[in-house]
Amino acid sequence: MRKDTVVVAGGRPDHEHDAPVNPPVVLTSTYRGTGELDPADRTYARLTNPTWEAFEDVLAQLEEAPCPALSYASGLAAITAVLTLVPVGGTLVLPRHSYQGSVALAHTWQERGIFTVRTVDITDTEATSAALDGADMLWVESPTNPMLEIADVPALVRAAREKGVLTCVDNTFATPLLQRPLGVGADLVVHSATKYIAGHSDVLMGAVLCATPELRQRLHSQRSLEGGIPGPFEAWLALRGVRTLAVRVERSMATAAELARRLEAHPAVAHVRYPGLASDPGHERAAAQLQGGFGSVISVVPHGDVAAAERLLTDLRVWTPATSLGGVESLIERRRRHHDEPETVPENLLRLSVGIENVEDLWEDLRAGLDALADR
Ligand SMILES: Cc1ncc(COP(=O)(O)O)c(C=O)c1O
Repeated sequence: MRKDTVVVAGGRPDHEHDAPVNPPVVLTSTYRGTGELDPADRTYARLTNPTWEAFEDVLAQLEEAPCPALSYASGLAAITAVLTLVPVGGTLVLPRHSYQGSVALAHTWQERGIFTVRTVDITDTEATSAALDGADMLWVESPTNPMLEIADVPALVRAAREKGVLTCVDNTFATPLLQRPLGVGADLVVHSATKYIAGHSDVLMGAVLCATPELRQRLHSQRSLEGGIPGPFEAWLALRGVRTLAVRVERSMATAAELARRLEAHPAVAHVRYPGLASDPGHERAAAQLQGGFGSVISVVPHGDVAAAERLLTDLRVWTPATSLGGVESLIERRRRHHDEPETVPENLLRLSVGIENVEDLWEDLRAGLDALADR
């Protein structure tokens, strides 16, 4: 099945007479059972839940993983789980521009003496490969949050394999529709399912996909012990969101490409970062690596200071000034309002998450704000 069918057809109950077409929300904390425990037994709801299983099956089909995904309470819970695979005293190689929560978490663990963080410019393949010497895990984001840089994912994964380093790709921005890191040899993929996967800004959830059943088993045992699990209703909402993933991504990407072009030509805009623009430094790599489009996030640096950028946000009517991305509604945010966003991200950079509204309404709203900025 093609991916736009998988999102609709995957994770459904068997085609039996009178079966519901949707998986039920299974609200239970425990399962009936007697006698010797079998590893396949459901046993207790911290270990598994049928509603998660439906979600985990679809995600595995989308990422072309050999075994089901693992659901977590949030993207950061999924990231936490993966980072525990770095041994105590080990080394994590981390892009300087990654989701700021991943960076903050890794640094917290470094401060506690658990592992060492080596920060890299992930677009610099040679320097990143050199930083892998003696490391235990390579963290990849591509496109990066919020700079939208594109890493050479196949080359980095190859370099990591040669040096016996595990690779994990945070595939939240690209979604499994545009990029399937396991296919180029990555060991792990994480998602903030809160974003495109669930798609409606109404639920937090995360997921991990593993290249081998052994890795999955390790993480599953750990998840069962640590308990960073989602509720069944959250998993059901995320699965319901997956049903429209392909049409949402297609629509928002087409709008993002158009808005990026128009933004680039506006006199109040100093710089636009969007891998779909021919002028973008990541364009060639993105064209080679991302299948079917360039994503729906745009970063814009307007002329003027921070106050001007903030004023632009308050002038908007269709766009919502809020953090997060990947929902049906368009969001815009000045990223450096987060104190832990690195100083290499321009202070007035605005990250736009393009939703599925009409492109002209989105443009007119932005253009009015930018015109006002240009006139000041
Ligand atoms: C790329 C990326 N990864 C992970 C996360 C964390 O996900 P969550 O908010 O679901 O914990 C985010 C959140 O913004 C993100 O943008």
